[in-house]
Amino acid sequence: MTSSKNLPHSQRLAERKGDHIELASKARTTSVEVDPRFDYEPLFFTHPSATSRWPTKFLGFDLEYPVWVSSMTGGTEHAKTINQNLARLCGEFKLGMGLGSCRSLLKDRSRLSEFAVKDLLGAQPLFANIGVAQLQELVAADALTQVHELVRITESDGLIIHINPLQEWFQPEGDRFTVAPLETLQRFLDSARYPVIVKEVGQGMGPRSLRALLDLPIAGIELGAFGGTNFTLLESLRGEEEVAREGFIHVGHTAREMVGYLNALPLRGKEFIISGGVSSMLDGHELLSRLKANALIGMASAFLAPALKDYDSLKQFFLAHREALLTAKSLLTVKEDA
Ligand SMILES: Cc1cc2nc3c(=O)[nH]c(=O)nc-3n(C[C@H](O)[C@H](O)[C@H](O)COP(=O)(O)O)c2cc1C
Repeated sequence: MTSSKNLPHSQRLAERKGDHIELASKARTTSVEVDPRFDYEPLFFTHPSATSRWPTKFLGFDLEYPVWVSSMTGGTEHAKTINQNLARLCGEFKLGMGLGSCRSLLKDRSRLSEFAVKDLLGAQPLFANIGVAQLQELVAADALTQVHELVRITESDGLIIHINPLQEWFQPEGDRFTVAPLETLQRFLDSARYPVIVKEVGQGMGPRSLRALLDLPIAGIELGAFGGTNFTLLESLRGEEEVAREGFIHVGHTAREMVGYLNALPLRGKEFIISGGVSSMLDGHELLSRLKANALIGMASAFLAPALKDYDSLKQFFLAHREALLTAKSLLTVKEDA
């Protein structure tokens, strides 16, 4: 196969025809390979252009695409570069972003520069992040103003609370929940004066937990579903091999399963970030279409490598996914029963 971009038109055409003959035998599919989730509707389609958008409201903010950069790292050497690149992307393409856990700032404000990215986002939403284990401690110490301070000093528009019992259990130096997260959340929410989102970190949640969250005065839920980055597995790789815990790595709920649970529950005006293993925009489009509520697609680990490299790599990564998302939206209709 040849790269023929700089050749004259007639030669390019001839080369392309040559490629087709050479590759035809390798380019065969069988009927079982078809993606059964979508109706393919080419008659209504135009290719997205550089100015195509998918305007979306989320918690009162205006986004140009239904895409959220899910909470990632903080408190490490590379965090500043990663967060700055991610924030710049959100500012340029009008997305929203969750910071990684801001726990380190509770004790040490010298790390604030790693999280101080609001000026790069402009009017786009930025949410601080804390684990329910820290909230449990702060509730017990009657020190919740420290959490409100985290939101203030990072200039965040709200707070994401992660609920991660399995990660903590597998983490060699992990915290233990002595109070159920639901109770900790209830105590915390009495004093929160900003929007709160609750999430898992890669295991998802079952219907009882979702129902309990929907009854709380929170703004939204991020799924943090099973099927992508798995922090229980990650922590198990860091610690001792522990046979008695082995099977727990595989428990949880996929994003698709959680969307099904949510659609059967009273959603009470909550908004959602569909995350956890959403690395393809086909999945993103499918899940956004299925959920009967206002929602964004959230991705974490997929953004990590390009964000760590440099801004241009991150931008190219996003532009490719943006095109795929807009193409999926315009070309594919999700089948009700698939
Ligand atoms: C490097 C890394 C760090 C993360 N740190 C946090 C964190 O501090 N707080 C949090 O709520 N989730 C954290 N997450 C979890 C993600 O927000 C997300 O829920 C999870 O990775 C599943 O999404 P994915 O499959 O797109 O990676 C982290 C994920 C990654 C990859």
